[in-house]
Amino acid sequence: MRDLVPEMVKCLSVHSLQISRKGKTLLQVPELSLMGLGPTLILGPNGAGKSLLLRCLHGLIVPDSGRVQQDGIALNAYHKSRQAMVFQRPVLLRRSVSANLDFVLKRQGMSRAIRKSRIDELLAEGGLEGKARQSARSLSGGEAQRLAILRALALDPETLFLDEPTSSLDPGATQMIERMILRASNRGVRIVMVSHDIGQARRLAADIVMMQAGHVVEHGAAKQVLDAPTSDAARRFVAGGLVT
Ligand SMILES: Nc1ncnc2c1ncn2[C@@H]1O[C@H](COP(=O)(O)OP(=O)(O)OP(=O)(O)O)[C@@H](O)[C@H]1O
Ligand SMILES: [Mg+2]
Repeated sequence: MRDLVPEMVKCLSVHSLQISRKGKTLLQVPELSLMGLGPTLILGPNGAGKSLLLRCLHGLIVPDSGRVQQDGIALNAYHKSRQAMVFQRPVLLRRSVSANLDFVLKRQGMSRAIRKSRIDELLAEGGLEGKARQSARSLSGGEAQRLAILRALALDPETLFLDEPTSSLDPGATQMIERMILRASNRGVRIVMVSHDIGQARRLAADIVMMQAGHVVEHGAAKQVLDAPTSDAARRFVAGGLVT
């Protein structure tokens, strides 16, 4: 975990959160506080409610009841403007790599000269220096995901949400993205990331939220959750992850 003084810690929390559809409870989280002392990984099997929770934290879904707060204040437009999200399948414009980044920077009112130097920095950060003029749609899966992360970083977010950003990538492409995520975290970007990969959790997580069937079954320091899980669900998930 990064060594942060307490007053710099930004708490993202949910209280009495509930989402139901057609009489079925999909998500029920009485209390959860994410302190942002390094990457938070949300782990759990398919259908556990990981993406729903992430979307609630980003304000993309309004829960049926309960609330999401940042630093004790209901999530508002300013908080959301300081958040960015990367989805499992990269969402890119049908334009060149650099135009995808320029689009985001322009909306922040940056001058052409500043945008140009920021694009160069971002391309270097994502190892896409040689790809600036290439059509974003012709990038490989790993390159496209790196560009999606760069676009999110171009927003200069306080919080970056990632929903299984490496699930369809090979180990090399996954490693490049994990390095980008760790660098962003070390620069002070709060990372909240969904994964179902125990190895990835060991490599990245400061804390782990373990989910099952719409509930948070465990939340704690990564080492503690992975090496000495207290819930049966987490024990089973960690054991399964070690077998595969
Ligand atoms: N709009 C919706 N209407 C009905 N059910 C939904 C809706 N959105 C999600 N669900 C259900 O809620 C449950 C949790 O979904 P969620 O997408 O959060 O799972 P997940 O943990 O992200 O799974 P995965 O690992 O497969 O991505 C699933 O059973 C899903 O079918
Ligand atoms: Mg999901």
